[in-house]
Amino acid sequence: MRRGSIVALVGLGAVAGGIAAAVALLLPWLPTPAAREAGRIDFVFWFVVVICIAIFSVVAAVLVYSVLRFRVRPDDHEDGPPIHGHTGLEITWTFVPFLLVTSIAIVSAIVLSRNDAQARDTLRVDVTAQQFLWSFSYPDAHNVTSPVLRLPEGRSVELYLRSKDVIHSFWVPEFGQKEDTVPGLVTQLHITPDRLGTFDVVCTELCGLGHALMRSQAIVMPPKAFDRWLRQQERGVTAAAPASGLSVFEANGCSSCHTLSAAHATGTVGPDLDKLVAYAKQAKQPLAAFIRQSIVSPNAYVQPGYPKNVMPQNFQQTLSTQELDALVTFLVQSSQKG
Ligand code: CUA
Repeated sequence: MRRGSIVALVGLGAVAGGIAAAVALLLPWLPTPAAREAGRIDFVFWFVVVICIAIFSVVAAVLVYSVLRFRVRPDDHEDGPPIHGHTGLEITWTFVPFLLVTSIAIVSAIVLSRNDAQARDTLRVDVTAQQFLWSFSYPDAHNVTSPVLRLPEGRSVELYLRSKDVIHSFWVPEFGQKEDTVPGLVTQLHITPDRLGTFDVVCTELCGLGHALMRSQAIVMPPKAFDRWLRQQERGVTAAAPASGLSVFEANGCSSCHTLSAAHATGTVGPDLDKLVAYAKQAKQPLAAFIRQSIVSPNAYVQPGYPKNVMPQNFQQTLSTQELDALVTFLVQSSQKG
């Protein structure tokens, strides 16, 4: 091989590699990780990307060089010289990919086993998915339940995921992993949050009309603030205060779909609950009875202009009688005030 060809190949390779590296580095492909597991997964991703860029630059250099140097000239009807194989080349292009693929497998296996490794002092959180909301409860703290996932920074967390109806999928992009919730199964997801902040919890399995709205938040808090929050919630539970309608409203995710000024809720997916009096008139029912029916069997009367089947249909089972009464009373009172 002539010296000039080597220089040209190296130059072309550098250009191709530079372009590919710029595309990889300058575009924001991945969210900034907020969990140790996500950081490790990102490491595997970049490990593979670096290998890909190296292969791409070699292939692109040889390809472009060949097209430029060996293209057919006008009036050139000659075939090239006959060539029969090249043992050295064949060994190289078998052995190099073997090494690369094996190294990817080893790095992935290490990351998988470290991500699944059980840590000591794990915080357990039970995650419940249903059409179309998430709820999170803390068995270490009298099953305190929250519509938002609050986690302490730096502590390993084990999520136990269940579904009440169909398959959903739990995903926080910054945590880097997804896990399906499957009716009849308890699935697990291990995360160790390592960055404070508020992140989106997204359902990533098409689960019905309200799928796109099935969102919540994960809030990573300093450990002390988290403990304080948990103790506070726990005190609320153990004091066994009669459920207030407002707390039932908030704990069941109503505000993600409905507007209600008494609860500072601004959802627009479902009917506007500040207009309940007018809706009850349209449905020709007394206010309290109308509200109760709309909660326990939402499809009995659907306010025109709003979709059917989006409102969860199992509140009869998931709310206690006291909670349901408190919620109805709260909605009646807030309608009459307004
Ligand atoms: Cu639940 Cu999509």
